[in-house]
Amino acid sequence: MSNHHIRLRSVTIVLTILLTIINQTQSDEHDHKYEDNDEVVLWMNTVGPYPNRQETYTYFSLPFCPGPKKTISHYHETLAEALQGVELVFSGLDIDFKANVAKTPYCHVTLSEEKLQAFIYAVKNYYWYEMYIDGLPIWGVVGEHDETDNSYYLYTHKKFDIGYNGNQIVDVNLTTDGKAKLELGTKLEFTYEVNWKKSSIKFEHRFDKYLDASFFQHRIHWFSIFNSFMMVIFLVGLVSMILMRTLRKDYARYSKDEDIDDMERDLGDEYGWKQVHGDVFRNPSYPMMLSILIGTGYQIASVTFIVTIFAIMGELYTERGSLLSTAMFVYAATSPINGYFGGSLYAQYGGRNWIKQMFLSAFFHPSIICGTAFLINFIAIYYHASRAIPFGSMVAVTCICLFVILPLTLIGTVLGRNLSGQSNYPCRVNAVPRPIPEKKWFMEPEMIVLLGGILPFGSIFIEMYFIFTSFWAYKIYYVYGFMLLVFLILSVVTVCVTIVCTYFLLNAEDYRWQWTSFMAGASTAGYVYLYSIYYFFFKTKMYGLYQTVFYFGHMALFCLALGLMCGTFGYLGTSAFVRKIYSTVKID
Ligand SMILES: *[C@@H]1O[C@H](CO)[C@@H](O)[C@H](O)[C@H]1NC(C)=O
Repeated sequence: MSNHHIRLRSVTIVLTILLTIINQTQSDEHDHKYEDNDEVVLWMNTVGPYPNRQETYTYFSLPFCPGPKKTISHYHETLAEALQGVELVFSGLDIDFKANVAKTPYCHVTLSEEKLQAFIYAVKNYYWYEMYIDGLPIWGVVGEHDETDNSYYLYTHKKFDIGYNGNQIVDVNLTTDGKAKLELGTKLEFTYEVNWKKSSIKFEHRFDKYLDASFFQHRIHWFSIFNSFMMVIFLVGLVSMILMRTLRKDYARYSKDEDIDDMERDLGDEYGWKQVHGDVFRNPSYPMMLSILIGTGYQIASVTFIVTIFAIMGELYTERGSLLSTAMFVYAATSPINGYFGGSLYAQYGGRNWIKQMFLSAFFHPSIICGTAFLINFIAIYYHASRAIPFGSMVAVTCICLFVILPLTLIGTVLGRNLSGQSNYPCRVNAVPRPIPEKKWFMEPEMIVLLGGILPFGSIFIEMYFIFTSFWAYKIYYVYGFMLLVFLILSVVTVCVTIVCTYFLLNAEDYRWQWTSFMAGASTAGYVYLYSIYYFFFKTKMYGLYQTVFYFGHMALFCLALGLMCGTFGYLGTSAFVRKIYSTVKID
């Protein structure tokens, strides 16, 4: 193939991917409107053990049989759906809008030894399956285990009660029935039945029955928000007190005795943080690493904020995979933010190797995500799970990184270096670094970092419980207003706590505040990870290698993102604080 040809093809691929992401589900259900007797498609999605929500296999990996209808075989899925393991296969059942179907057999399975064992395994492990009609999910259990005589039963009858309002489908109930004993050689007959009923549910409200208001709007949830809010007020008070205390004396002095000797003003009764004015703006160690982490943190914070706003406005949970699509799109689109802040910070630290910094910035977070996903994918392939990422999707993600994220980061970096690459520090940096005095063990940066995460974690951990439960158990998270509040509370708490931490650090005449403030914020994520371990053992019943690796891998990714975000909040707030207090220090 010629070079030109390859380039053309890559461009086409990128365009297709972008279109798929933006143009989410222009699916087969089109506009959700049906005429009488129009075909209504029943999609079989996945089947898997109830306690392991993410361990799913395609429905027909069990020896179920499809119905006689053969029109559509495979659903054209979006990238986000492919990544989330959605694998819709046409059921073959003939369902038409407003046409009742009496109990009708649609296929037979004769139980060979192999099929029998497959079904027994599924029933024993509480397998259940998911189907979709017109975008509405339906769940059913595969079978039942009778403990008394240790026999296994399979449900062979599916009864659909579909509610319609005008020309739209607004409600679906599934009743499974027809218990058939699983024995070698039995011929199972699968049947289905469809009853259409007029319903008064409005189309916009058809997802309401899936939302568990008594869970998500429980008193505890409100109470925790209120609690965190009180904490915010307390912390903001504390920080303002520190600021007042440190600044008041200076202001008083400036206004009173202008003529005091400079030497005396500088050294007189001065102690603690003022002593390190000649070092406090010294570049941190590993400036490139720090600027990469902070640039990425900016990006993650903006993605979280924007996606939460979208979710509040757009009820993203009503479309399969739309939350992930939105997140990926916003992530790619906010790459310039990463480049801008990372690049400008690196320039302020006097970094020269900006091309390396830019590449690392662009790929640091995506490559960790892809690396983890890749590892989990190995196990998924081994298990034949439906979450095994198809090769096409991997190519698509790589293309997004190379052709969207990288150029946008480049633009951001160039802008950042040129527009705000100057370090306008209020104090000069001395040529010789000041030795850091001995201090109490709890004033060491490591301890401060450890302590820094406790309060921010305290302000979010109830929300973490709700978020975890919606991801790892079967709840649809929809209270994004809460999430936005918690996001804002978390940012304020983190900023305040790291400012207080830094104040103590500087008072101990230790000027290494850059990394300390970043890590003090980021340590919140460490506590969240510990909490996730507790959650795994005490709040879920997950088992098996695949689900365990999936859980801890994804939690690690989540905590990494959270850590980068909180670390950035911490650095940001502290940096403003340090500039503020040292701008009042008058030197020669
Ligand atoms: C589905 O079940 C719910 C609760 O039992 C009921 O209120 C609703 O009317 C049912 N819908 C249909 C279409 O039968």
